Amino acid sequence: MTVASRIEELREEIRRHLHLYHVLDEPEISDVEYDELFRELENLEAEHPDLVSPDSPTRRVGEAPSSAFAPVTHRQPLFSLDNADSLEALEAWEQRVVRGLEREAGGYVCELKIDGLAVSLTYEDGRLVQGATRGNGTVGEDITHNVRTVSAIPLVLRGDAPTLMEVRGEIYMPLSAFAELNERQAEEGGQIFVNPRNAAAGSVRQKDPAITAGRKLAIWCYQVGFLEGGPALGSQSETLAWLRDLGLPVNPASERVESRPGVEAYVQRALDGRHAHDYQTDGVVVKVDELTEQDVLGFTARSPRWAVAFKFPAEERTTVLEEIRINVGRTGAVTPYAVLEPVFVGGATVTHATLHNEGELHRKDIRPGDVVTVRRAGDVIPEVVGPVPAARKGKRLAKWHMPALCPFCNNPIVTVEGEAKARCTGGFQCPSRLREYLFYFSSRSGMDIEGLGYQTVDLLMSNGVISDPADIFTLTSDVLLEFEGWGEVSVTNLLSEIEAARDRPVARLLTALGIPLVGPTVAKTLVRRFRSIEALMSAAPDELDAIDGVGPEIVASLQSWAADPENRRLIAKLQAAGVRLEDPAPEGGVDDSLAGVTLVITGTLDAYSRDEAKASAEEKGAKVTGSVSKKTTALVAGANAGSKLARATDLGVPVLDEAAFTRLLADGPGVIPA
Ligand code: IVH
Repeated sequence: MTVASRIEELREEIRRHLHLYHVLDEPEISDVEYDELFRELENLEAEHPDLVSPDSPTRRVGEAPSSAFAPVTHRQPLFSLDNADSLEALEAWEQRVVRGLEREAGGYVCELKIDGLAVSLTYEDGRLVQGATRGNGTVGEDITHNVRTVSAIPLVLRGDAPTLMEVRGEIYMPLSAFAELNERQAEEGGQIFVNPRNAAAGSVRQKDPAITAGRKLAIWCYQVGFLEGGPALGSQSETLAWLRDLGLPVNPASERVESRPGVEAYVQRALDGRHAHDYQTDGVVVKVDELTEQDVLGFTARSPRWAVAFKFPAEERTTVLEEIRINVGRTGAVTPYAVLEPVFVGGATVTHATLHNEGELHRKDIRPGDVVTVRRAGDVIPEVVGPVPAARKGKRLAKWHMPALCPFCNNPIVTVEGEAKARCTGGFQCPSRLREYLFYFSSRSGMDIEGLGYQTVDLLMSNGVISDPADIFTLTSDVLLEFEGWGEVSVTNLLSEIEAARDRPVARLLTALGIPLVGPTVAKTLVRRFRSIEALMSAAPDELDAIDGVGPEIVASLQSWAADPENRRLIAKLQAAGVRLEDPAPEGGVDDSLAGVTLVITGTLDAYSRDEAKASAEEKGAKVTGSVSKKTTALVAGANAGSKLARATDLGVPVLDEAAFTRLLADGPGVIPA
């Protein structure tokens, strides 16, 4: 046998075993034997570079291309689903289906709702050419380099592949892989993920595909988007069977049922068995099976009428509330939280739960030492529902009260009349508040410094290396290399992230500073008007008040912030550290042609993504909001506009199509019909 044919044989063999494992769930060989085949192929390819092919199972991990995370416009939007959170809601959905079809549906397909993240995979002539996130449904991010590393995703389809196909599915992290990953992260001092879904999402958004490859992700495919040159498919059940024949993993629990009793029986089985899988499910997706019936039913603005997601109810368990502690947040707000005896609920082990504020605690009469009911649903923060009074059995439990002094900085904790939240008065001397503040400063909502997460902030703070945001910009490799587990690569990466953050638009810095009531939108408005932090700090109250979207509370907040000498020192220090405090004037001066105009943008535009449309309008001073009200100047409606268009029509808000929007940008508000 020639080397070339042995290589081809090995590739086929490896693909066959991947398929046996991921699609058929019938592995024929052990992991060790599989690794041996894989290594033999790697060695042969290393000796014969001319025989390497991009589809080889060894070529999953490459370099991240420059197109990584670039926007991808989906050929067909990825819709989301309407939820039914009770059997009654499910019944109501079915009745809508029957009304829409004017008869009973021919049958339904029930699938498990996988709690992962939706992705779209494009195959051209059977070869994987693109992977993208769902994004906003219309535009996602290019993650081809990372989906290639997921061994459950075939690089080459089996059998008669279509010319062009876009298939949707859910990438998830198996529970076993999730447990292993967190163990490893804990040992290495890395980030601990709260649940498998976040772990999967974090893994897919890695710049380095080698990291994604090490994360043991998997996929279940459940839907075909765009299809060209494929068979004529008549139903969802046929589609699933066909996807499986192509070698794509399809969840084996998917089932066709004839009518509603069958759907309800499936839901019951899915609920009973929800913890029996190596992945998290958060409900059941029910789809009308016949594609002709799906076409008749069609879509609303955001979701198909032919499918619904039945959400499992939040799970509740009882456990012991061992202790109540408090946490000081970035604004100084003090929040009590429960330390619980670990309890497995809603697919995760819960050890802490928020208690909101003291008033709430007393209303529910929750006391340390109580047996309490804990509730957790999907991604939601676990919550203490209330005590189990019977379990108190004559035990005398003392009520909990907010401590008078902050346990982190010893300064008084005060509760302002009429406010639910207590506050620590220690300012940034309070290490708890400082930690949260610095973490927020570098987070994605703030200066977006990747690699400066919670643990790193904590490490640098507790070693006295940083004590305010400006210190971040004076970090050096000498200092960072001293820390255990920090090598040349991680230090260089962090420093280059920080370097890039020095030059972020001023609105980002202003948001990151965490001035009460100054979020991203207000920050943008302020910077547009003043361009520099300096000018903003010395602005007179009536100058601020005159700005559209800036009310008296914001003015007061800004003024008191600017008057604080501590903040002035911080700004001076940021300046000395080379952080950008002023945005360059736009060429040709500030364009205010759309000042005072409030727009809502909906539907799909041809020439602009949603973000681009928003940015172009904002550049000219328009305010872009999310929902139509009487204050809306005009609605920009692209293709497939839905409920917002209806609302605008109801309220008599003028509607602009894409052409009119382009004219608005060029010629100003005169083009809006009165
Ligand atoms: S079908 C138009 N099927 O749930 C049909 N979605 O709440 C759109 N999901 O965005 C999706 N399991 O991320 C479908 N078997 C399944 C699913 C599923 C999980 C996710 C998906 C979707 C979300 C909608």
